Amino acid sequence: MILKTVALLALMAAIFVADTLTRYEIAVAVFYILAILAASALLPARTTRLLTALAVLLTLTSFALTRSGTYDTGLVNLAISLLAIGITAHLALKAVAARAAAERTQNRLFHIARATSLGEMAASIAHEVNQPLAAIATSASACQRWLDQMPPNTDRARQAARRMEDDAHRASEVIARIRAVTQAHKTAPQAVAPAHAIHETLALHAHELEHEQVRLLLDLPDNLPAVHADPILLQQVLGNLVGNALDALRLVPPSERTLRIAVHAGGNGFAEFTVEDSGAGIGPDETPQLFDPFWTTKDSGAGLGLAIARSIVTAHGGEIAAHPAPGRGAQLAFRLPVSKEASHD
Ligand SMILES: Nc1ncnc2c1ncn2[C@@H]1O[C@H](COP(=O)(O)OP(=O)(O)O)[C@@H](O)[C@H]1O
Ligand SMILES: [Mg+2]
Repeated sequence: MILKTVALLALMAAIFVADTLTRYEIAVAVFYILAILAASALLPARTTRLLTALAVLLTLTSFALTRSGTYDTGLVNLAISLLAIGITAHLALKAVAARAAAERTQNRLFHIARATSLGEMAASIAHEVNQPLAAIATSASACQRWLDQMPPNTDRARQAARRMEDDAHRASEVIARIRAVTQAHKTAPQAVAPAHAIHETLALHAHELEHEQVRLLLDLPDNLPAVHADPILLQQVLGNLVGNALDALRLVPPSERTLRIAVHAGGNGFAEFTVEDSGAGIGPDETPQLFDPFWTTKDSGAGLGLAIARSIVTAHGGEIAAHPAPGRGAQLAFRLPVSKEASHD
């Protein structure tokens, strides 16, 4: 930072010398604009303000020291230079502040996205772990009953104990899976295998998919490249799209419910994801609004799912779009840059 400040000061000194030595008619002072623009892009706002004040001071000093040329023209040039410097500094600082505000909003949104994703995960862990726990409790009381018999039925008791063991393994697998995701998250963005992210997301919706009798089609080639993404945020995007697909599928009869998830390498440094459902579909006049925050057609919808998905995808350098699916339903497609390292899993 100090180096950049020194470089800009040197530039300003050069402008000062040129401005002082040349005639009044030559408005060298407008070149201070370059230094101010560079400062606003490279240095903190306070330094930019100081450099702007310095530019004004140097312009006035040069004017006072200049000896040659038409004084009146010099005066007009002085006014133009000062005005240009002032307006440039004002606009540049405003642009920087707007960028910072946008960044803060995005960070807040990501924080919310992560928190809701973790909250949803917690809810589904509770659900997934509760089932084996209930089964363990049932097997345990059965086991006791077999042992209490006279004579004890050790064969049946042993079977019950084995069921308890299997269920305990199931429960700890669920927890291990969640732990893997949350730990991976510490080092966000990283190389993530698309198939892994999709399976993890689907695991969180396994119960719903089965309950709603959704036919699931996966098109995940073996040699897919890893993508460069934050694993939790990628799961958040996929989870929002799968959640929307399930909502749309609920509006059609069970026999017509298909969810298709596909990924292929685009060959352009991106991996292309598509989440396609055979649900109620999107009207052509709705397509432009879909990604707007708070836009929803659902009674209990927040209208944030797609807005969050889009902000995550674009922050990763990708794009997302919605299309009517071939036949019936909706297709949500997004792309993420391929990672330069090998995936972690
Ligand atoms: N797969 C889909 N099929 C049909 N409509 C969809 C689909 N995905 C999103 N939409 C439409 O986009 C709207 C916004 O989606 P979203 O931002 O996730 O908010 P929410 O799900 O809370 O309504 C939905 O209300 C719905 O009308
Ligand atoms: Mg939604």
